[in-house]
Amino acid sequence: MKVDVLLGLQWGDEGKGKVVDVLTPRYDVITRFQGGPNAGHTLEFNNIKHVLHTIPSGIFRDDKINIIGNGVVIDPSIFMKEIDSLLKLGFDLKKTLLISKKAHLILPTHRLLDAASEAAKGDAKIGSTLKGIGPAYRDKIGRDGLRVGDILNNFEEKYKERVKQHTDILTNYYHFDYKSVLSDYEKTWFEGIEIIRQFQLIDSETFINKQIESGKSVIAEGAQGTMLDIDFGSYPFVTSSNTITAGACTGLGIAPNKIGKVFGIFKAYCTRVGSGPFPTELNDATGQKIREIGHEYGSTTGRPRRCGWLDLVALKYAIMIDGVTELIMMKADVLDNFDSIEICTKYKIDGQLTDEFPYELDENVEPVYESLPGWNKPLTEVTSEDNFPAELNNYIKFIETRLHVPIKIVSVGPNRSQTIER
Ligand code: GDP
Ligand code: IMO
Ligand code: MG
Repeated sequence: MKVDVLLGLQWGDEGKGKVVDVLTPRYDVITRFQGGPNAGHTLEFNNIKHVLHTIPSGIFRDDKINIIGNGVVIDPSIFMKEIDSLLKLGFDLKKTLLISKKAHLILPTHRLLDAASEAAKGDAKIGSTLKGIGPAYRDKIGRDGLRVGDILNNFEEKYKERVKQHTDILTNYYHFDYKSVLSDYEKTWFEGIEIIRQFQLIDSETFINKQIESGKSVIAEGAQGTMLDIDFGSYPFVTSSNTITAGACTGLGIAPNKIGKVFGIFKAYCTRVGSGPFPTELNDATGQKIREIGHEYGSTTGRPRRCGWLDLVALKYAIMIDGVTELIMMKADVLDNFDSIEICTKYKIDGQLTDEFPYELDENVEPVYESLPGWNKPLTEVTSEDNFPAELNNYIKFIETRLHVPIKIVSVGPNRSQTIER
């Protein structure tokens, strides 16, 4: 068996949570491979709307194993809250959720360092979710991280050593007042550590490879999106992990030849939350209309998402980096009330037209649009491709022809049921 990967092709929030939940019945094991609680994956079914941050989106289905892989960074206090709210919904995950011992921990001081770093950047800030992601991954790469497996012995000692270094930086470099909040953060954080201890902490790379060998099917759920990838995204306005298909190999311990299908998810338009370049952004009434109809406000921070038209240049680049085999188009219903829909098919850079993604998306990058007719019909009740308006079929065909990858699923609403396979 191979591992299928599902990941975002844009700047995150494409609808990964919804689709993983929809696809879960076809898999035995669901894994998260990178990112942390900067992610907010929303699922809606049976009048439940739930946002997951660290936990894979397969947990609402029976008989499935869910794994938090080694590439993920975990904040125990946020994890504890997630577990609590799932318990209230009647989902006890002690038997079905496994955690990699090699996953790194986000310390309370990582959150403070994130806040201090963003404050020091002023107008040049990344627009981080302030969950401590950058500092936690920095410690991991700097070989100073604490891992889940560390909680099993001498933990307090190792913790104190790390915190000492962090508070020195906060005091001496950032002149940041952390004292008023640190002890509160630590209290819930250590409660969270006790919750983590109640779960099976495993060598997930061995476990997952054994599952594959024994014929079990595995899906890897990405967080963020390809345009936020640390290497290939709009650096430095990115997150601190590899959000791309290759990230599933390092974030789970699976070899590249074990990768099967790659599901690439994109919205029928584009959004971005946080700072950084966004060529097709609409700072006008149209952008506002998309934001309101699409409820484009962050699942993790509640911030308004920046909205704009679909960008095929960026999408083509993401498909290349990720080796996407199937596309999934989300939120088509949000474009129900437009007479015409613009698609960026090229960039104009210093007067030259190109469909190659440039080194930097600086102010010289100007989107060039082609215009397609809108369908002006409601899609949310549509249950089969046979009932797609001709203009929607035309929109789909246009994208497939330019990207050379089939769109296999079209999503027409947030609910599980509003998912149309082609
Ligand atoms: P993720 O981070 O990729 O899992 O995406 P988010 O959950 O952050 O954001 C996607 C949002 O769109 C959520 O509020 C979903 O409930 C919602 N959503 C997902 N698919 C659709 C769709 O097809 N139509 C509409 N209108 N909303 C959708
Ligand atoms: P999901 O998985 C959208 C953005 C932040 C910021 C940048 C860096 O729900 O798609 P970080 O907290 O990592 O330091 O933030 O990345 N960002 C996301 N944007 N969806 C996400 O996750 C995101 N996770 C981080 O807004 O611009
Ligand atoms: Mg999200």
